[in-house]
Amino acid sequence: MPKVLISDQLSPAAIDVFKQRGIEAVVKPGLTPAELRAIIGAFDGLAIRSATKVTRELLDAATNLKVIGRAGIGIDNVDVKSATARGVVVMNTPYGNAITTAEHAIGLMFALARQLPEASASTKAGKWEKNRFMGVELTNKTLGLIGAGNIGSIVADRAVGLKMRVVAYDPYLTEARATVLGIEKVELDTLLARADFITLHTPLTEQTRNILSRENLAKTKKGVRIVNCARGGLIDETALYDALQSGHVAGAALDVFEVEPATASPLFALENVVCTPHLGAATTEAQENVALQVAEQISDFLLTGA
Ligand code: MLT
Repeated sequence: MPKVLISDQLSPAAIDVFKQRGIEAVVKPGLTPAELRAIIGAFDGLAIRSATKVTRELLDAATNLKVIGRAGIGIDNVDVKSATARGVVVMNTPYGNAITTAEHAIGLMFALARQLPEASASTKAGKWEKNRFMGVELTNKTLGLIGAGNIGSIVADRAVGLKMRVVAYDPYLTEARATVLGIEKVELDTLLARADFITLHTPLTEQTRNILSRENLAKTKKGVRIVNCARGGLIDETALYDALQSGHVAGAALDVFEVEPATASPLFALENVVCTPHLGAATTEAQENVALQVAEQISDFLLTGA
């Protein structure tokens, strides 16, 4: 019977799938790297979220490992090159949390437009500052999507429903797909010049790192509001801080940070910044989806090699 180690907090739905498929699942979240190295040799599969770091050292000890399944999208916590070199397949679940993450981006856009976290804190503090919180409407505003894949296209769909004009920069977006989505495909500089709101929906790669660099932030429309639920590292945080301080950028909502966990940042001191602790995929529905999907995928691979 193949054995799978679940080394992060995963919905119990995954364990049921493994059981039904005749695979032994051992649940051990929160192990130290040394503890993980000590036991990994006994397993054929490894199911993770983002906490487990699959390093070259761990893979050296994983003498029976055939497959690593990431319940989620990003595989930044896996040394894919080392895994591939050892013949270990790395898989993710690209669809299970896409709606949830898109909804978080839309939620953060509303939070920025109406300063909801600040207004809530002020009201709870008994201040009733009705004149302090003048917002802006989303209707008829231009949303610039950087990345129009699984998540970006759901954001586009919701934004079109909100009567926003949507422009997208994505080298993989075809004109035909843009037409179906009811959005306009544009070059990055055009997006930067036109967008009232910018949301990011790309993985962090050498091509996308610092896509909102100091230089590109300077090309944005004055008063732009920026939402990042994708990956820290897509925005130059120091340049963003300066642009927020100067008022060129009116607000930023950040779910992800260059260094996570982000427990301290100069950005936290700014009133026009809304922050959440990488909650993009944090709904019960999404976590159940990704757990089920990763368990099915790992089972298929271990039982049929497909
Ligand atoms: C993902 O890559 O699936 C999301 O960022 C969620 C997460 O890492 O928890």
